[in-house]
Amino acid sequence: MANELPDGVRAIAHPLIRHKITQLRATDTKPIVFRAVVRELARLMMYEATRGLAETTRRIETPLTAMDAPVLEKPYPVLVSIMRAGNAMLDGALDVLPMAGVAHIGIYRDHDTLEAHEYYFNGPPDIAERHNIVVDPMLATANSSVAALARLKTKGVTSLQLVSILAAPEGIAAFSVAHPDVPVLVGAVDEHLDEKGYIVPGLGDAGDRSFAT
Ligand code: PRP
Ligand code: URA
Repeated sequence: MANELPDGVRAIAHPLIRHKITQLRATDTKPIVFRAVVRELARLMMYEATRGLAETTRRIETPLTAMDAPVLEKPYPVLVSIMRAGNAMLDGALDVLPMAGVAHIGIYRDHDTLEAHEYYFNGPPDIAERHNIVVDPMLATANSSVAALARLKTKGVTSLQLVSILAAPEGIAAFSVAHPDVPVLVGAVDEHLDEKGYIVPGLGDAGDRSFAT
């Protein structure tokens, strides 16, 4: 599949990622473990996702000498969670980037039409001047992530990327058409969407599995 991905979309091929996604897929994984594994996956994926962050240097003293040492450039990125399911990923992302800003976008998918409906937005006032890393475990039809990224663009954000744990080929294609300028990092690409818009083989409803609803 990796060779067939559109420009700007990358799937992590790594045994740890595959192992942890298998834990999420299994129906006997309880919500407390599900959330913990999503958080671990977010930490691992953030390591890859932040590879291109801008750096500068800070003058410091080591015990032996002075040096201009590399640090992340300010302003630090904003982590954007697409609620609800994005929140467990947000926790993992904040574990490795605790100095990041945080924005929340509440979006749910209508079960019949699969259209995305926004019910909440809150983010830092200077969000447009910062790099935004959007996290949502699922990229199915891409309706939710397409809407979330469009919302951020209306706020003036120009530097964006999307990180999702599990994607469907249909969602990757739709997202790439809607936001060809936004890089996407996914943990795995599954086979297809079913008639109800669920990823197959998938892991079910990520929000329900996270929060036992
Ligand atoms: C899930 C998931 C994504 C969306 C993906 O959210 O967290 O946001 O579905 O599907 P899509 O690519 O077809 O839009 P859901 O609508 O179930 O809301 P929830 O997180 O509140 O459960
Ligand atoms: N949202 C989910 O949580 N799971 C899917 O399979 C599709 C959309």
